[in-house]
Amino acid sequence: MNNIKQDATIGEVVVLIPEATQIFSEFGIDFCCGGHRLLSQVMKDQGIDERVVYDRLQDAVEKRKSSYDDKNYTKMSPAVLSAYIEDTHHGYLRKVLPEAAELLNTVLRVHGKNHRELFDLYRLFGQLKTDLEQHLLKEETILFPILDNAKDNRSEVISVTDEIINEHEAAGEILRELREVSNNYTLPEGACKTYEKTYSLLEEIEKDLHQHIHLENNILLKEYANR
Ligand SMILES: [Fe+2]
Ligand SMILES: [Fe+2]
Repeated sequence: MNNIKQDATIGEVVVLIPEATQIFSEFGIDFCCGGHRLLSQVMKDQGIDERVVYDRLQDAVEKRKSSYDDKNYTKMSPAVLSAYIEDTHHGYLRKVLPEAAELLNTVLRVHGKNHRELFDLYRLFGQLKTDLEQHLLKEETILFPILDNAKDNRSEVISVTDEIINEHEAAGEILRELREVSNNYTLPEGACKTYEKTYSLLEEIEKDLHQHIHLENNILLKEYANR
């Protein structure tokens, strides 16, 4: 038996059980952009055995009861949480986006002729990189500062939040397309070390972005999200 309510949204479950991000990733449940949907409905739609997922979530809760070390993002003030996001997730992206672009460029030159999907991968990643670079700046220069005194400019916060969440959805869509084009980051026969490194870095970026967007959509901006 589990304690998760049947009418809980994916975002609510992730807030209560941070380990759910890992479990949802394994089952292909979108917890960042799709965080507002009902978990039970999504599992039904995707043909996922809900007992297995609920048992895993319950296990995670039990485990954490014995070793409580959660950062507890929900208890952070907007200023502390946005500084944390900027330091960890924005800092990470600024480091790895150029690295991944460089790697993709090398792989494309060497293997593009025999693996034409790499051209699509290169184009999609380039789009994601450009979108994110402006997105990080928009959050740091517009969103995060106005969140500090959101009470005085609530309508502006709501309007910027709307824009930010739309951009998260666009990034989520590109991540899905990258997965599709690369056949879930499956390496072709005889792939070289650089190919391997590129795919593993792209997967790592995807994982980090899911967590990053989840913190913003479902915790930092929850109160202002219009959906
Ligand atoms: Fe961000
Ligand atoms: Fe963001």
